[in-house]
Amino acid sequence: MKVFTEISALRAYLKDTKFNAARSGQHLSVGLVPTMGFLHEGHASLMKRARMENDLVVLSIFVNPIQFGPNEDFETYPRDAEKDLALAKQEGVDVVFLPSVEEMYPRPTKTTISVKELTAKLCGASRPGHFDGVTTVVGKLLHIVSPNHAYFGQKDAQQVAVISQMVGDLNMDVQIIPCPIVREHDGLALSSRNVYLSPEDRKAALVLSRSLQQARSKAEESEHVTVGELRQEIQQMIQSEPLAQIDYVEFTQFPGMIPLDDITSLKDSEEDVLIALAVRFGKTRLIDNIILTKK
Ligand code: PAJ
Repeated sequence: MKVFTEISALRAYLKDTKFNAARSGQHLSVGLVPTMGFLHEGHASLMKRARMENDLVVLSIFVNPIQFGPNEDFETYPRDAEKDLALAKQEGVDVVFLPSVEEMYPRPTKTTISVKELTAKLCGASRPGHFDGVTTVVGKLLHIVSPNHAYFGQKDAQQVAVISQMVGDLNMDVQIIPCPIVREHDGLALSSRNVYLSPEDRKAALVLSRSLQQARSKAEESEHVTVGELRQEIQQMIQSEPLAQIDYVEFTQFPGMIPLDDITSLKDSEEDVLIALAVRFGKTRLIDNIILTKK
């Protein structure tokens, strides 16, 4: 496994490797898995999928400062490069790109990629500027690596929708592959931020997946149920957990991200429906979601 910290060295290696393969008549497909590190089984699922579908798998690990707000956890975001490299090796990754902040942003960036409308709600509303930071860094990574496929988790469903829109709008020559959410055995969605949770918070945080599962059952039982009814049930369930503080409980079309109002009955939605939650436990903000697919 090769590890690069410099863009120029990574590019030269990828160019050479592709060139040498082409000389023997082979066209190498490249899969990129962008991450911020502190890797867990959720990230591993993306690496596994990329390993299955590509000749060359590139993992990027970069805690991207421009997607964090001024009062967010950029400084304290968990980092463990050594453990990450061991996991990457175990998953059969060929190339790890581990740049410094100075390498990615040698000067203040005056160019940002900004996707409109899809970023107005949910995490875009709670974290102003967050998605501009995400699309700008993912745009840079896609330019640096030029992958055929790039892998993203549905855990960040809005991120998948926003990046897919960016790639389409800017004619980027890459296929975005969304991958399912990986959960602990008790339902908690894996997240690098789960390490912040106290044992009590960790237990309380199960209310996210439980409330989403309950909403799914209810929606399956009665397709006439309205968004308002489901929203109220989820809110009540989360509020019954004293350690939980709701940031949002949102219903939108997916991938269009158009918010659904409370009187909408689920069967009236023209697209799949995303139910997305963001909830704080102390200082830790967790997100989770499910997608109700249109029958
Ligand atoms: P990060 O939070 O490290 O996540 C990297 C990728 O792993 C994302 O596509 C995310 O959706 C996916 N992922 C995280 N937890 C998952 C889980 N439980 N199941 C499945 N996939 C999961 O998302 C980012 O980093 C950044 O915004 C990034 C795209 C790297 C840009 O900086």
